[in-house]
Amino acid sequence: MVVGSGGREHALAWKLLQSDTVTRVICVPGNGGTASLPGCENLPMSGEDFAGIRRYALVNGIALVIIGPEVPLAMGLTDYLQAEKIPVFGPTQAGAQIESSKSWAKALIQSAGIPTAQAASFTDLESAQAYVQQQGAPIVIKADGLAAGKGVTVAMTVDQALAAIAAAFQGQFGEAGQRVLIEEYLEGQEISVLALTDGKTIRPLLPAQDHKRIGEADTGPNTGGMGAYAPVPLATPALMQRIQQEILEPTLQALQTAGIDYRGVLYAGLIVTPTGDPKVIEFNCRFGDPETQVVLPLLETPLITLLLACVEQRLKQQPAIAWKQQVAACVVMSAAGYPGDYSKGAEIFGIDLAEAKGAMVFHAGTRLKQYHLITDGGRVLAVTASGADFAQALDQVYVAIKSIDFAGCYYRRDIGHRVRSN
Ligand code: AMP
Ligand code: GLY
Repeated sequence: MVVGSGGREHALAWKLLQSDTVTRVICVPGNGGTASLPGCENLPMSGEDFAGIRRYALVNGIALVIIGPEVPLAMGLTDYLQAEKIPVFGPTQAGAQIESSKSWAKALIQSAGIPTAQAASFTDLESAQAYVQQQGAPIVIKADGLAAGKGVTVAMTVDQALAAIAAAFQGQFGEAGQRVLIEEYLEGQEISVLALTDGKTIRPLLPAQDHKRIGEADTGPNTGGMGAYAPVPLATPALMQRIQQEILEPTLQALQTAGIDYRGVLYAGLIVTPTGDPKVIEFNCRFGDPETQVVLPLLETPLITLLLACVEQRLKQQPAIAWKQQVAACVVMSAAGYPGDYSKGAEIFGIDLAEAKGAMVFHAGTRLKQYHLITDGGRVLAVTASGADFAQALDQVYVAIKSIDFAGCYYRRDIGHRVRSN
């Protein structure tokens, strides 16, 4: 069973069904893509309906529940299902704090001596404003809680920072913004390292780079992610080794020290500074979206083997994770207005044509309505291709995208700009 309804969950279901031992995947609630994936079935129930999920899993003998999004993890779905001895991939509520509270995560990171941006946390407007005045810009303002990837403002001026603080305390992010973390601005390239852990051993998947800003040339507000590619040439084997030793292993150790048995994905959002040092800007408690859509197509080892090894604490005994000698890229097609207000319900055309051109179209926010596929979210589709190099993969994506249309469709034309010329 895969809990969630985004592109990440479509990619997880698609990849799971490629494992010989997986014949059936239930998505809760899934989307238009999982509804039409052979072997996959949608269960029309909220991913936050704990009792419903438990009942279905017990009655149908679900072998493994994989929780995609952060919200049910932060609400304690893992703890709830574990109490019924249902195998779950995804951390407990205590472990999910690494994402659900930025100040909790920051304290953990600092206590373990892991390289990160300096930060201070505030619960009142006046002290937060005073701190910004004293620190100056550029500076980064973060809502403490979950805000669907939109709770961060990278302020280039003090005025922008003050406005972001005011908006947070005025309730722009609800409860999530009643505490803010104010962080030193780090310059450098970002990489996402999604690592699998069984609570004792931690192993990275291929590094990916996400494009968080809505606008081309990385401008405009942050989104959940507008495109991605993997692997990242900047993340050389030597850098990955440092990330393992300086970041992943100490974080796992700090979680253990905190008494947390963490089995799932630890997603490290890193900045590689101009001097080549990796620093943590955030942790997430789950697979990234859209990073998953570019990492999983490259995975050779059956996904189910790795997930079960995490749940059953056998990761150390697993052979090295095997990868295809290819690269992958994806471009997100979103609804006009996203990450602000957007409308739903536009009919989507041309996915078959795009797939006939060799792309994989992962659905992010779609729904089947009387056999018509319609938009049902801000991020609508993640059009993905793999190839021998980035130029090939990206060309294939952009050719395929031309076949797809829905009213108000928007996408960035510069995904992969850092690797295209390589
Ligand atoms: P987060 O939700 O913490 O990943 O932040 C969203 C985005 O804001 C990141 O992907 C970065 O692009 C940017 N960001 C977050 N923290 C910092 C920082 N300390 N310095 C520079 N950029 C940051
Ligand atoms: N792509 C960013 C995230 O999944 O948080």
